[in-house]
Amino acid sequence: MNFHVMTLFPEMIMQGLGTSITGRAMQKKLIQIEAVNIRDYTLEKHGQVDDYPYGGGAGMVMQAEPIYRTWESITNRIGKQPRVVYMTPQGSVFNQSMAEDFAKEEDLIILCGHYEGVDERVLDMIVTDHVSIGDYVLTGGELPAMVMIDCISRLVPGVLNNNDSAEFESFHENLLEYPQYTRPEEFMGRRVPDILLSGHHANIEKWRHEQSVKRTMERRPDLLQEK
Ligand code: ADE
Repeated sequence: MNFHVMTLFPEMIMQGLGTSITGRAMQKKLIQIEAVNIRDYTLEKHGQVDDYPYGGGAGMVMQAEPIYRTWESITNRIGKQPRVVYMTPQGSVFNQSMAEDFAKEEDLIILCGHYEGVDERVLDMIVTDHVSIGDYVLTGGELPAMVMIDCISRLVPGVLNNNDSAEFESFHENLLEYPQYTRPEEFMGRRVPDILLSGHHANIEKWRHEQSVKRTMERRPDLLQEK
């Protein structure tokens, strides 16, 4: 899967995703991430990419032209026009099923905004999906883009070591994951639940499922209603 990120801070994207599991997935060519600097596509003399808002008000607005030209350069190069996700607190709130939907795409373009906003005209022209990562406001779309890319990448076959693990984790069928334990059997007087040491797989499965339901009811009852 190929992610094309349009941003004013390409190094933030590449450094953030270049380590750990996403970094290894890039090395193995399971995913490809390019961060394209919008500033490289401005026609203004001093590399300007933003300007004052028409009608007045605080802050600066990112101009349409450099964003449009960045998009044009990417789509011409790859020879197609994939979905364009604009990271914005005004979008639909990202969740696991959106990640599963995006993971079906071969290419995805992600636009990171900054300053007070982006000229609406270029959004109307190129954006297919408006996505937020939660009801709070960040300084830019880079962290949200990284969150989304991380989440989608781990659904790409081969990215996680163990092929089953993406399936059984938190949010599989809208249930939170059951509690996990590893060695030692006793830590500061706290023992691992006996059932997990019993070797009885059917009982362990049943216990884990019960724990998932209990945990979801206690911590995220809203997830049970969503189904
Ligand atoms: N840009 C600023 N805040 C954001 C958020 N919560 N989600 C997506 N993009 C954003």
